[in-house]
Amino acid sequence: MHAINVEDYGIDPDAIENNYKKIVLDSKNIRYEIKNDIHNEKGILLIRSGGKIDKNSYMKIINHKLLKPIDECLQFKDQISPDTLLENIEQITQNIFGEHQHDFDSTVAVIRDIVADINFDQIILNKLSVFRYEASDNFNHCLTIALLGAKIGIELNYSYEQQVELFNTCLFHDIGEMYLEVNVHSSTTELTEQQYKAIKVHPILAYMLLKGSKTKFKNQVLNGVLNHHERLDGSGYPRGIKAQAINEFSRIVGVVDTFNAILRKGRSVDDALWAINLHSKKKQNPGKFEESALDPKIYKILYSFKSSLGNKLEADNLNKSSIQSDKILALCEQLNLISLDAKKLKEHIDQYKNTDQINNQEINEQLESVYCDLFTIEHRIINSSGLNNVSLQEIPHDYDYMQAIHLDINRITPELKELTGRVNRSLDHVKYLDKSDILEQALIINQSMYYKTKQIYESLQS
Ligand SMILES: [Fe+2]
Ligand SMILES: [Fe+2]
Repeated sequence: MHAINVEDYGIDPDAIENNYKKIVLDSKNIRYEIKNDIHNEKGILLIRSGGKIDKNSYMKIINHKLLKPIDECLQFKDQISPDTLLENIEQITQNIFGEHQHDFDSTVAVIRDIVADINFDQIILNKLSVFRYEASDNFNHCLTIALLGAKIGIELNYSYEQQVELFNTCLFHDIGEMYLEVNVHSSTTELTEQQYKAIKVHPILAYMLLKGSKTKFKNQVLNGVLNHHERLDGSGYPRGIKAQAINEFSRIVGVVDTFNAILRKGRSVDDALWAINLHSKKKQNPGKFEESALDPKIYKILYSFKSSLGNKLEADNLNKSSIQSDKILALCEQLNLISLDAKKLKEHIDQYKNTDQINNQEINEQLESVYCDLFTIEHRIINSSGLNNVSLQEIPHDYDYMQAIHLDINRITPELKELTGRVNRSLDHVKYLDKSDILEQALIINQSMYYKTKQIYESLQS
C-alpha cells in the first residue's frame, strides 16, 4: 500500500493535534494529572509534572507545539477499562435490541472474551477514553458496529483471532471523527463544503493513530479502518479503491455502518435493509461502475438476522441526525416540480420570443439570460438529485448522498428565488407590450414556481 498522508488530503496534522489538545483540556468529564513535564518542541519547559492547568498554562500548551504528545504527559483518572467497555456493550444490546437482546447472547459472550484480553497501550486507552467521554454518540455507534460485526463474524466462522481483529476494526473505525471540529452525526447545522471535506479524512486519521501506536495493530485492522467508507464499485472515499483492494473487515463495517447510519436517522430496520439491498446489487446499466457498492454476501448475512433486529425497531436511544431524509425527499419532489415548471416556462418564453413581438432590446436580453439560468439550474437540480434516471422512491437513503443533495438544495434555493424574481420583473415589463395567451400561461407557471421556491426556502430555514 502507498504511504498515506493526511497532508495530501488537505489536512494539517498540527491543527488536528491542536484540536485534540483542546478537547482534552476543555473537557468537563476527563480528570487527569500532569504525570510528566510538558516541554515545547524546542525543549523549553512549559509545565512541571504535578502542576495545575490554569489560564496561563492552558494557553502555553495550546500555543506551542509539544515535544511529546499530550497523552504521554497526562495520567487520566477515569481511564476506560474492559469493565466499562463491556458495560457499554451490554447496555447497547439492551437499548437497541430490547426483547430480542438474547439473540445476541453468544455474540456478547465472544465480545466478553475479547474485551477481557484487551492489552492496549496507555495512549490508545487515553484516546479511547476521550472518545467515550467527549464523543459518546460516536463511541456508542462504534460499539454497536462491533456487536453487529461480531454476529456476522460468527456466521462467517471466524476464529477467535479473526474476531479480535474485526472487533478492533469496528471499535476504532470512526475514532478519527473525534479530532475534527465537526461531528457528522450530531451536527445541528448543515455541513459546509470544507467541513464535509474534513469528514472524508476521518478514516485516514484513525489509520494514522493505530499505525503510529505502540500497540501493534495487525495490517488487516489498519486496512479495515482506512477503507471502511470505500465501496466495491470505486464510489467510496478517501481513495476510491475498488473491490479486490477492500478487505472483508471493511466490507463488513461498510454494510453494518450504513445499516446503523440509517437507523440513527430514525428510519426502520426494513428501510435500512431495503437501502442496503439496493446498494448490494450490480447496476443494471453499468457505466463507470460495474460492481455493486456494498458486498451482497454480507448483506445476506445481515438480512438473515432480520427477526432479531426487530421489525419496527427505531434507534430511539441513539442520537437522531438533524438530516431528515423524509424532509429531503419532500424537497426533492418540490424541486422536481419546479424543474418541470421551469421547463414549461422556458418553452413559453421561447414561443413568445418566436412571435417576434418583443422589440425592446433590454427585455429581450433579460429573458435570454433568464433562459440560460433556468437551463443551468435545472441541470444542477437533475444532477444533484439523480432525478433523471431514478424515480423518487428509489433514491438511496444513504447518508453521504442525502448530505450532498441537501447541500446542493441549499446552494440552489437562493438562486432560484432570485431567478423567479427576475422572471417576474421581465414578464411584468412584457405585460405592457402584449397580452397573448402564451404570456398569461408563462405568468401562471412562474407564479407556481415562485410559490414552490418560497416553500422550499422557508422549510430550509425552519
Ligand atoms: Fe466512518
Ligand atoms: Fe461509522
